[in-house]
Amino acid sequence: MQVVYNFKELNKALKIESNKTIGFVPTMGALHDGHLSLVRLSMQKSDFTVVSIFINPTQFDNPSDFINYPVTLENDVSLLKKCNIDLVFIPEFKELYQNEKKINIPLNGLDQVLEGNHRKGHFNGVIRVLNIFFQLIKPRYVFFGEKDYQQYLIVNLLAENHFNNIEIILCPTIRLQTGLAMSSRNIKLNLEQQKIASKIFQTLNYCKKHFSFSKINELEKICFDKLKDFSDPEYFEIRNSITLSKEIKKSEKYRAFVAIKLSNVRLIDNLAIN
Ligand code: PAF
Repeated sequence: MQVVYNFKELNKALKIESNKTIGFVPTMGALHDGHLSLVRLSMQKSDFTVVSIFINPTQFDNPSDFINYPVTLENDVSLLKKCNIDLVFIPEFKELYQNEKKINIPLNGLDQVLEGNHRKGHFNGVIRVLNIFFQLIKPRYVFFGEKDYQQYLIVNLLAENHFNNIEIILCPTIRLQTGLAMSSRNIKLNLEQQKIASKIFQTLNYCKKHFSFSKINELEKICFDKLKDFSDPEYFEIRNSITLSKEIKKSEKYRAFVAIKLSNVRLIDNLAIN
């Protein structure tokens, strides 16, 4: 496994492998089994797997969230080495953004709700950094976890509009036995808090069970109140799986989306409910 820190080393390594199908897993480090499941899928589907580790400042609306984001670089590199991936890219902010060519894509309002509403500018930062990575790495496949479902929808639009050759692959959320979705931020929770946080998944399942015969606003409120019993919920919303609209049409697919703060750690999750 090669570890590269700049464009020159990256380009050199990719040039040698130019005939191979590249699978790419972008990460912000603090790797867990969720990330490793994406890595394994990439290794199955591609000839050459690249993982990036970069905590992208442009996608944080809150400076203290950025400063407190977990960093476990040494452990991350050793986990990736054990997986036997081909290349880890650990760039620096200055070089990554220095020749950035900004792009515009029609997001059809996908960035205005849920995470987009609660973390202003977040998706703009995600698009900026992925646009740079996609241009540099030229992957055939890019892998994202279902926990960040809204991000997946938006990245799909980035690929459709600017990177025809890239297929965005959605991979299942990996959960602890308690149901808590794996997240880099879980490191910041003690065992007791992790147990409490498993109530997020219970609430999502409650929503799924009651979706077909409840009034949507009432069900959202019941679920929000359940979260209030143990955390500071930001939102609990039921939305169309493709458009993220709140309008309910019987024939379409819906998801419940949730964000809470537990002891100042922000957690998100979502579940397909029909
Ligand atoms: O999902 C993440 O970890 C980040 O948003 C990503 C895709 C690595 C971009 O910084």
